[in-house]
Amino acid sequence: MGFIVSNNQNLLSKIATNDGHGEKSPYFDGWKAYDSDPFHLTKNPNGVIQMGLAENQLSFDLIEDWIKRHPEASICTIEGVNEFKDIANYQDYHGLPAFRNAVANFMGKVRGGRVTFNPDHIVMSGGATGAAETISFCLADPGEAFLIPSPYYAAFDRDLRWRTGVQLLPIDCDSSNNFNITITALEAAYQKAQEANIRVKGVLINNPSNPLGTILDRETLRTLVRFINEKNIHLVCDEIYAATVFAKPDFVSIPEVVEENKECNRDLIHILYSLSKDMGMPGFRVGIIYSYNKNVVNCARKMSSFGLISTQTQHLIAAMLSDDEFVDRFLTQNSKRLARRHKTFTEGLEEVGIGSLKSNAGLFFWMDLRRLLKEPTLEAEMSLWRVIINDVKLNVSPGSSFHCTEPGWFRVCFANMDDETMEIALGRIRKFVVQVKNSEAVPAKKPRWSKNNNLRLSFSRRCEEIVMTPRQMMSPHSPMPHSPLVRART
Ligand SMILES: Cc1ncc(COP(=O)(O)O)c(C=O)c1O
Repeated sequence: MGFIVSNNQNLLSKIATNDGHGEKSPYFDGWKAYDSDPFHLTKNPNGVIQMGLAENQLSFDLIEDWIKRHPEASICTIEGVNEFKDIANYQDYHGLPAFRNAVANFMGKVRGGRVTFNPDHIVMSGGATGAAETISFCLADPGEAFLIPSPYYAAFDRDLRWRTGVQLLPIDCDSSNNFNITITALEAAYQKAQEANIRVKGVLINNPSNPLGTILDRETLRTLVRFINEKNIHLVCDEIYAATVFAKPDFVSIPEVVEENKECNRDLIHILYSLSKDMGMPGFRVGIIYSYNKNVVNCARKMSSFGLISTQTQHLIAAMLSDDEFVDRFLTQNSKRLARRHKTFTEGLEEVGIGSLKSNAGLFFWMDLRRLLKEPTLEAEMSLWRVIINDVKLNVSPGSSFHCTEPGWFRVCFANMDDETMEIALGRIRKFVVQVKNSEAVPAKKPRWSKNNNLRLSFSRRCEEIVMTPRQMMSPHSPMPHSPLVRART
């Protein structure tokens, strides 16, 4: 009997075959370029250095030390195995009480004790990724939208939109006021949605911000709270970097503003959190939804069955976060280390004339390379990005992948590497910038390959090739023609 050969695409769902995951973006392309040629201090010293990953590797030693001193926190050790039976069985999806209490205390502590969190309002999820999707499912139907200040964390498109069918509509922010959110921009985005007949269900903010590394001031938070109350829509606050603040001004958490505003409808306020950044444990997938709204808590809890945190992890985290002395020391040390790294990197760039948005939080900073663009367009930004990834061999992320409308900004992650790698990365950027500057100072000689219409640069395996026209090559703003890293294939 013959079988009909079918088109595999038709066998799968729309979600399975659409591009909603966002994998086809420069953000992920950068990761692929890194994967195909990863830097290693000794085994591959000319490889791509990963600076596109918001990971904190600066404080592992503190956690490892605690784990060594507390073998009983794991049920898979001689010291902890007595608890194995209790922990390894099915558990209530409310989460272990010890875990919820410890997380609620920790969330209060990292906010300087200025606010408290009720453990009964905590819902578990697989990282903040799962938390974002769950809140999207709880608050909006397909086609409805959240407004979100841009630039914003690239994977929000995957997390809030892909499987839910919900839309994200940007509130455009730019460098004219340091990317602050204004009431004018909020109203404009809301108005635009109304004109397009799209129902806005809420505003999503990320404070401290990825990719900016900045925090929202109290006045802006007040404006946001007033705005969502007036419109009777939700406010979702991703506070995943709440404790990853390493310099003044202090972080202001949304509950601080909600509690001072007696008019605020608390049913509209929801917080996303996780231990991926503040404790540097993204592999543990400890995510949290904290909602003031009991219905949302109930609904999210039912949905949490799809992304529970393993009880072994809850058990261990409960013990770790209940150790106040350890937590205090960790938070202090971690901030100091981040501050030092941030200072070394940003000051090292300033020395060669590269600025960045003034920041005091997060695991990255927002580097300003507008000066290096051939022209102020997103295409020029992508060209520059390809040179940085393929020739300078640094995977930094272009602003456009965070929906930044102003070309020339790049997110640089600084905490996911050791000191030696950091020095090499910094050295590469500095060398590149100096070469560009020198090329601007010395008028370009007519290149040998000028008869040829296209200059091809040699790139790492998976990235698209840059093809430059002679005009681009001669541009005083083009970083490429004079770089010794450029290899002409004529
Ligand atoms: C702003 C923001 N939200 C959510 C996440 C996802 O975090 P998690 O690893 O806890 O899923 C990240 C990770 O980079 C992030 O930067």
